[in-house]
Amino acid sequence: MRHMLNPLDFSVEEIDQLLTLASDIEHNLPKYAHVCDGRKLATLFYEPSTRTRLSFESAMLSLGGSVLGFSSADSSSAAKGESVSDTIRTISCYADIAAMRHPKEGAALVASLASRIPVINAGDGGHQHPTQTLTDLMTIRSLTGRLGHMTIGLCGDLKFGRTVHSLINAMVRYPHIRFVLIAPDELRVPEYIREDVLKANHIDFKEVNNLDEAMPELDILYMTRVQRERFFNEEDYIRLKDCYILDRKKMKLAREDMYVLHPLPRVNEISTEVDSDPRAAYFKQVQYGVYVRMALIMTLLEVEKPC
Ligand code: NCD
Repeated sequence: MRHMLNPLDFSVEEIDQLLTLASDIEHNLPKYAHVCDGRKLATLFYEPSTRTRLSFESAMLSLGGSVLGFSSADSSSAAKGESVSDTIRTISCYADIAAMRHPKEGAALVASLASRIPVINAGDGGHQHPTQTLTDLMTIRSLTGRLGHMTIGLCGDLKFGRTVHSLINAMVRYPHIRFVLIAPDELRVPEYIREDVLKANHIDFKEVNNLDEAMPELDILYMTRVQRERFFNEEDYIRLKDCYILDRKKMKLAREDMYVLHPLPRVNEISTEVDSDPRAAYFKQVQYGVYVRMALIMTLLEVEKPC
């Protein structure tokens, strides 16, 4: 039995197969309408979510399966003090696969150790968010036709942003990747990412504060929200929340073939005037998120691809 806790749980070849399956699903959706008939997905969400939870549900429904779950810790027995291990042991009796989001780093790993069904990490604190990364990889591959040979600008809250950590983890395995890490000093990537992932893999990267200067060299600009819920005090959040705002003026500095991605939700960091720019790809990204989660559910449940 396999889980998806970190993008590195799948080899580059396996991710390639998964993205190819996701792309086939995109183009032949009706063919997949019954491949998970009778199977159940449980969504265990201890933290707020719109896209991740609903895209998982939409994915399973589109495969013919059913969904059950909870969308806040308050409405589950966590509020009574139940451990994640006991909860997943219980859920293993009700469902065939589970997607879990939890505010604590490592929660999905703890769940996987007690689980009889595949566990998907749908975000664990400020740590990892592998299915967002699969979404990002599918978006980049679909829009540019490649996954290597590019300069990726990651901008905003690189300290607490789990989507950033997972994306860096996944991208360093492709050839000729360069990163421009754009953040205020307080929100730089954590040291373990800089040392154990970037430097250990001899990745070309630089850390800068200025978004305008970075714009012209980027193939992809990955904007992120300042993660209010992970700050220890509100004053720091207020001081940093609007550190970068991508607007039409800044987009003029970018290449014509650059794409803007964002895991969403956005707060202020991308002005709505950018939405109509053909390079704004964040709502396309949402759509890819469904196909990639369909492919992941099929892969973890070992469902045969229909002919
Ligand atoms: C992200 C998350 O939960 O980490 N959202 C998502 O799943 N698309 C990004 C965020 O909340 O800022």
